[in-house]
Amino acid sequence: MTWLVTGGAGYIGAHVVAALRADGRSVVVLDDLSTGLKERVPDGVPLVVGSVLDRAVLDAAIAEHGVRGVVHLAGKKRVDESVAEPLRYFHENVEGLRVLLTAIADHGVGALVFSSSAAVYGMPDVDRVTERTPCVPLSPYGLTKLVGEQMIAAAAAAHGFAHVSIRYFNVAGAATPELGDRGAANLIPMVFERIAAGLPPRVFGDDYPTPDGTCIRDYIHVSDLAEAHVAAVRRLAADPATALVVNAGRGVGVSVREIIATVGAVVGDPELRGVVEARRPGDPARSVAAADLIRAELGWSARLDVRDMVESAWASWTR
Ligand code: WQD
Repeated sequence: MTWLVTGGAGYIGAHVVAALRADGRSVVVLDDLSTGLKERVPDGVPLVVGSVLDRAVLDAAIAEHGVRGVVHLAGKKRVDESVAEPLRYFHENVEGLRVLLTAIADHGVGALVFSSSAAVYGMPDVDRVTERTPCVPLSPYGLTKLVGEQMIAAAAAAHGFAHVSIRYFNVAGAATPELGDRGAANLIPMVFERIAAGLPPRVFGDDYPTPDGTCIRDYIHVSDLAEAHVAAVRRLAADPATALVVNAGRGVGVSVREIIATVGAVVGDPELRGVVEARRPGDPARSVAAADLIRAELGWSARLDVRDMVESAWASWTR
């Protein structure tokens, strides 16, 4: 059974491809290389350069490679960009998924894993976010992920394929430092950028209702997240009735100041401190996953901690 990984040349996608291969799965990558890098696709894995918006490309890839399952990670993922260009996000993420679902239905593809996000929850007012916490996305990006989950559930009910949507919390770290990946515009790489520029890291607000006043997130190592996809693929291959939406996090909250302190320890600057700037609009004070459902349903839980994330990200950054 061959799995099509859309966005497989991206930062997360490349880790998913590597983990699926290590699990003995046959994989083909579809990526338009808009942000993906072909160097991330390992030798022996076919790379189809094209978009999920292109039905002909999808038809050819599915037919030629005998695709029976899809792991869909292709899409736009920047919250700020989605606020500035919502219609582009609706096109790429929502229309892109619609075209993909049409191809899945028409080819009788039996299984789909979808890359969703904690952004579907918006401003959660709970200690740990469960999959039953109400979804009130605050950005067009988060909206595209929530709509995507709902489109998948409706299409699956009508066309009979199994599916798992995985809501990623804050993904960090690297498994392949030799690729020299510098990661997306997220906290840890942004701290590295400031260090490289000889500037103190920025802290967006220290007056949140949290113990040290800075925002708390649930950071998850990209290798652990990749293993969550492997667990989903195993489940889908075994149970064609699977219909799941699960959080992927560690269930551990870490503040911005704690991240900066860990970076300081890793880079050999224990005095490293942030400079406080204004709050960033739309940032929840706290976003931490309840990770019970994914453990119960997929037998997955994270193994690596924040130190592992920062060390591997730094190794990749300084490569
Ligand atoms: C983390 C915390 C910042 C930079 C977003 C999306 C989410 C997912 C990951 C996509 C926040 C603070 C940051 C800095 C800081 N996206 N910060 N100084 O916003 O939790 O999540 O990215 O797929 O859907 O919402 O992640 O890494 O941007 O920020 O103080 O220089 O670090 O304010 O509290 P976020 P982030």
